[in-house]
Amino acid sequence: MINDKVLVLLNDQIELEAFSSFQYLSMCAWLEHQGYPGAAQFMARQADEEMMHMKKIFAYLTSAGGRAISPAIRKPQEEFDSFKDAFETALNHEKKVTEAIHNIVYESQNNRDFTTFNFMQWYVAEQLEEENLFATILNKIQLLEKDNSSFYHLDMELANLQGQTAKN
Ligand SMILES: [Fe+2]
Ligand SMILES: [Fe+2]
Repeated sequence: MINDKVLVLLNDQIELEAFSSFQYLSMCAWLEHQGYPGAAQFMARQADEEMMHMKKIFAYLTSAGGRAISPAIRKPQEEFDSFKDAFETALNHEKKVTEAIHNIVYESQNNRDFTTFNFMQWYVAEQLEEENLFATILNKIQLLEKDNSSFYHLDMELANLQGQTAKN
């Protein structure tokens, strides 16, 4: 049987996973609107994954005799300063989700709810994967920012560019 305190936390997690899904859907819409269909597709896939995370807790609660509550979802962030800002927001969000997951692991152990403790191990591994995924993308964005290749191409172009007076 699921511990009462842990049951509350698991229902909070259902809400957080659903919110994550809506947050990534919101980023998907923003990126698409900014002209980044590739990144938008990536976020749409993340949104689907978060929905799967949510349903997995639903199924667990049902199988373990607890009652899952369908959550009310607060409004996700809609506007972002830049492509990079959207991915930074995603990484920071994942870090918060990791904290929430770790708290459930901690409380399930403290309350001797070892069934939930065992169930949550999948989420611990998943969070490491997701944080790494967003961190990798942010590293790539930072590399692009440092990349001076566009200036190199402009420099090459300038080598052959002459004003009218120089030609005469
Ligand atoms: Fe998740
Ligand atoms: Fe996630």
